[in-house]
Amino acid sequence: MKSDNKSSKSQKYSNKIVNNEKSTTKESKAIVLQSVGYPFSFHLMESPKLEIFDKSLFEHYAREQWMGTIAKEGSYLFDQKILPDFGFKILKAYPNNSMIGEATSIVIANENEKINQEMEVINSDLRIKDVIGQEEAKNKCKIIMKYLKDPEKFGQWAPRNVLFYGPPGTGKTLLAKSLANELEVPLYLVKATTLIGDHVGDGAGKIHELFEAALKTFPSVIFIDEIDAIGLHRQFQSLRGDVSEVVNALLTEMDGIRDNKGVVTIAATNNPQQLDYAIMSRFEDEFEFKIPDEKERLDMLNQFIETMPRKVKVSVEELAKISEGMSGRDIKEKLLKSALHKALYEDKEEISMAHFNQAIKNFNSSKNKPPKYMFS
Ligand SMILES: Nc1ncnc2c1ncn2[C@@H]1O[C@H](COP(=O)(O)OP(=O)(O)OP(=O)(O)O)[C@@H](O)[C@H]1O
Ligand SMILES: [Mg+2]
Repeated sequence: MKSDNKSSKSQKYSNKIVNNEKSTTKESKAIVLQSVGYPFSFHLMESPKLEIFDKSLFEHYAREQWMGTIAKEGSYLFDQKILPDFGFKILKAYPNNSMIGEATSIVIANENEKINQEMEVINSDLRIKDVIGQEEAKNKCKIIMKYLKDPEKFGQWAPRNVLFYGPPGTGKTLLAKSLANELEVPLYLVKATTLIGDHVGDGAGKIHELFEAALKTFPSVIFIDEIDAIGLHRQFQSLRGDVSEVVNALLTEMDGIRDNKGVVTIAATNNPQQLDYAIMSRFEDEFEFKIPDEKERLDMLNQFIETMPRKVKVSVEELAKISEGMSGRDIKEKLLKSALHKALYEDKEEISMAHFNQAIKNFNSSKNKPPKYMFS
């Protein structure tokens, strides 16, 4: 049924919110709702529980009654028709403060909420240009952007599954987040370690839910961090219980994505050599993230220092030289933050070379710590 059939009550509700904002507000690409029940309770409605049998039918119904409403994360939408005043909380809106329209995907968050604990949907204000170096991976992201803006055009030539690999702290997660942000599309960020469940079948179910959610809110990006934790080479899988079942589920979904437009999977790892061959072969492109060279370190230092709350007394060129071998994260956390905190602790207005020297010394001694992963 078309929106002419709207009850006057729901019409009033929508108009009240929209009035002043309609002309300037973007249409929502997707919203994720959580059913929260009634704002009050009395004995007839002790435990309101919503069960949706046909998700796409519910989406039509919801879109029709909330069309024109501003979707603001954290605010509530109320059913005005069948279950008057039944509430839904807006968990996510893409973009935030956008208007629900004809093309908005409306997704109800999983009832048992399991996936939500592990699947972080990221909103950030990062830009691809903020990622320094890693030019090849950035170029690929530009292709992915073109594709997600207009998935129809690419047909069978669409980018699908991409691998970012390289040492910790070199910008893999940063680039995935900035890609999703530039496009204003949802980024489903999941750490592969959280996909290994307590019971056989848990992991496969979680992977399926993850891809289902991403497909529902397309265009979207799935980012599987630390994929080596589940995509281990078969020789290691027997050591890790139900991992091979999780690997199979992942392979099925990665293949399935071929038929579904507007979803790209990016996986990241520090240990590509330990990945299962079947998984490796699903990636059309692999990008190595490298430890920054001197020029890149200089650019990073300039970017990071700009926001520091104390003046840096040492030349940036000098800092770029002494930070050889550090990743972007090391420069930020181990060099700049550590030196800043030292200066703050000493009540100094400026950060001096002595503070940086101490930070470098700490960094060098921490390099001999044990490896991050069980198999590295
Ligand atoms: N190439 C870069 N350009 C700008 N900042 C960077 C870069 N690399 C790292 N950083 C800084 O270091 C932080 C950590 O980087 P990020 O989380 O992307 O590393 P990662 O490659 O995903 O590491 P890991 O393998 O441990 O997950 C970033 O938030 C950013 O502040
Ligand atoms: Mg990361």
